[in-house]
Amino acid sequence: MAYLKQITLNWDKVNDKDQYPFNIPALSRLDTLDLNQNVVFIVGENGTGKSTLLEAIAYQCGFDIGGGSRNNDLGLTDKSVLLSSIMTLSWMSKVTKGFFLRAETFFNFAQYLDEMAKEHPAQYEAYGGKSLNEQSHGEGFIALFTHRFGGKSLYILDEPEAALSPLRQFALLKIIHDLEQDNQAQFIIATHSPILMAYPGALIYQCDEDGFHKTNYEETEHYRLTKAFLDNPERFFRELFKVED
Ligand SMILES: Nc1ncnc2c1ncn2[C@@H]1O[C@H](COP(=O)(O)OP(=O)(O)O)[C@@H](O)[C@H]1O
Ligand SMILES: [Mg+2]
Repeated sequence: MAYLKQITLNWDKVNDKDQYPFNIPALSRLDTLDLNQNVVFIVGENGTGKSTLLEAIAYQCGFDIGGGSRNNDLGLTDKSVLLSSIMTLSWMSKVTKGFFLRAETFFNFAQYLDEMAKEHPAQYEAYGGKSLNEQSHGEGFIALFTHRFGGKSLYILDEPEAALSPLRQFALLKIIHDLEQDNQAQFIIATHSPILMAYPGALIYQCDEDGFHKTNYEETEHYRLTKAFLDNPERFFRELFKVED
């Protein structure tokens, strides 16, 4: 179920367009972004503004931008939320449940959960019964996905593949499938993973300095580069390791 249908950026409200986050090329060219699909991927080079956009959406949804759900307050702030001050969310049907997962601050989130559990050990129950920090990074992720996710929710995930082996990425695809198939969940995911972005029927945006463009899986640079590399690694190495004279 696509709960969040579209976002709009109201550029009239910006005084200084030379300031972060308003000066990021892809974002400065963005007026509306259609998100009307159960699974939406945002792909693109490092530094193009994917995390800034997701943080602003998550903040505007009321999720803690350090990662987590509405009830978690990790006390982290970021200038990226300035973008949310000019952002309007258009809902098909508003949800307040959901989760914002940042690969970068997953550790902070796990630590926060440990702190809460010192007083209320039952805190772990929603996450599979034990500390997320006392498992491997990947196991902690999957425990979170398996136990904590469910119901009418919006999930905003920033590079969830960071800790996951290819096999665990398949596990995540299955979890996404189970959650979105009965139209309960919407996912907005920034990823570099050619495995995750292959999810059937997903809406994919490629983000670059010209803005956000709808694209097909096979047309993403991530797919093309990975495929070309795996098909013929020697060719890449000849080029990469070429001795300049
Ligand atoms: N707090 C900040 N202050 C100033 N510039 C920032 C800040 N955070 C990120 N940036 C810049 O904004 C750009 C986009 O960052 P980000 O949204 O993290 O990119 P991505 O997630 O696509 O890799 C980068 O060029 C980065 O240097
Ligand atoms: Mg990022």
